[in-house]
Amino acid sequence: MLTQPDGLLKYLTDASSLRLPQGHFIDGEFRRSRSGRSMQSEDPGRGEAFADFARGDADDIADAVSSSRKGFAVWRRTPPADRGRVLNRTAELIRQNAERLAIAECLDSGKPIGEARGDVSGAARTFEYYAGACDKLEGQVFPLPSGYVGFSQHEPVGVTAHIIPWNFPISTAARGMAPALAAGCSVIAKPAEQTPFTALLLAELLAQAGLPAGVCNVVTGTGVEAGAPLVAHTGIDHVTFTGSVATGAHVMRACAENVTRSVMELGGKSPVVVLDDCDFDAAIANVTGAIFEHAGQICSAGSRLVIEAGIHDRFVETLAKKAAAISLGHGLRSPDMGPVNSAAQRDKILGFLDRARERGAEFLAGGLAATAAESGKGYFIEPTIVASRPQDDELVQEEIFGPVLTVQKADDADHALHLANCTRFGLVAGVFTRDFSRAHQLARDIDAGQVYINEYFAGGIEVPFGGNKQSGFGREKGLEGLKSYCKTKSIAARIG
Ligand code: NAI
Ligand code: MG
Repeated sequence: MLTQPDGLLKYLTDASSLRLPQGHFIDGEFRRSRSGRSMQSEDPGRGEAFADFARGDADDIADAVSSSRKGFAVWRRTPPADRGRVLNRTAELIRQNAERLAIAECLDSGKPIGEARGDVSGAARTFEYYAGACDKLEGQVFPLPSGYVGFSQHEPVGVTAHIIPWNFPISTAARGMAPALAAGCSVIAKPAEQTPFTALLLAELLAQAGLPAGVCNVVTGTGVEAGAPLVAHTGIDHVTFTGSVATGAHVMRACAENVTRSVMELGGKSPVVVLDDCDFDAAIANVTGAIFEHAGQICSAGSRLVIEAGIHDRFVETLAKKAAAISLGHGLRSPDMGPVNSAAQRDKILGFLDRARERGAEFLAGGLAATAAESGKGYFIEPTIVASRPQDDELVQEEIFGPVLTVQKADDADHALHLANCTRFGLVAGVFTRDFSRAHQLARDIDAGQVYINEYFAGGIEVPFGGNKQSGFGREKGLEGLKSYCKTKSIAARIG
């Protein structure tokens, strides 16, 4: 039985009281597209459009870049402590507007309201974290011979572009914008066309917090019409891209043309290694959350269960029961799991499942599309678990980006390590065992940007995050995330 929070369901029929912005945010104000065009965003929980937004193109990008160049000139000269104050006020404003942001995120992306609230509070924490870093960007002094001084200082890289995906709209926007602004850069964000609203609301809150006009611009629209001209613009000094490998490679080619720096956060096919001696119940709960949170649409989702043979049967049986009990529904109704983000994403996932069925795969749970019980609408996929597949199977190798867990059975811990490393991705990995040494041997030997031991998704904004292999390069979060937005200048002087 789903809980039905009082007051929230009115947004299913009328989202107008959220006052969602309809324009780009350029030079401190909301503006229509130069072309006058707009497009609609869907609520995937109902499969219906619920709000209009501006459909930008190269002309709007040109306006945003020229505004951001001016904004950068102002912001880089703003005293670091003042920058910190603006970011702290932004964190405060995000908290004051948390419910509006969470409802907008829930409607636009489909995620359950509880997850959306968590994302919003994480975004506030991200601004708070980087607020504190603004006035602590210290350089170094180098040991030159007497008669010389040598030192380095961090300078902001300039105008930074942020291409944001639809799975974590406000989190990804905050994760890129906050460190860029802390370093003294200006930002232009291009949110995904499926989820444009929270980036716009964030830009408005930054302005309310005192960010000068032009330091944060947001242009909405499609990847081809707005994203491509942004990353190819010669006025951009850095690109942070989060999304698919194919689009990331495309963006890298555009960056190469102008020798623009970039950080690439691409996909994953992350293993959750569960050994025989694990805490069984804790491992079950973590494996479930790792793949079914946000219906598996998480770059770091634990989408492969690498399970040691001794507990395999009992573990997958328990997991399948748990998956079958997961409630589906519109995000505002606080289900266990919401829809996937679009009809296209649903159909992509179903393609993987249909092909697997043709290859004879055994489904331990789910495997089909679904709709919300209350409306018969929406883009849902049942929580799905597929029994052990060979290493070269598409379900083992490809990012499905949906609530689909593939099992891989391991003979022992060494075999588990081999299986964990068997894809072209290297974003995260989970390890569940009570054996301290084993856990740390696996953490050492797994090729991934981060390894979670005995709690999947452990960590916070303090911990750097990013991928190895085709999961990308560069790190976000933590103080390391700040370095992407700084360039080192070394100064050496002969002083006699
Ligand atoms: P995508 O990678 O094409 O889109 C991500 C962002 O890039 C969006 O803002 C989009 O508008 C923008 N974009 C698209 N083409 C662009 C271009 N030529 N230049 C600049 N920006 C561009 O991902 P899409 O098509 O939404 O989803 C396809 C698949 O990608 C998903 O099924 C999923 O497997 C994967 N994906 C992975 C994500 C992750 O965090 N690892 C996030 C989103 C998608
Ligand atoms: Mg939407």
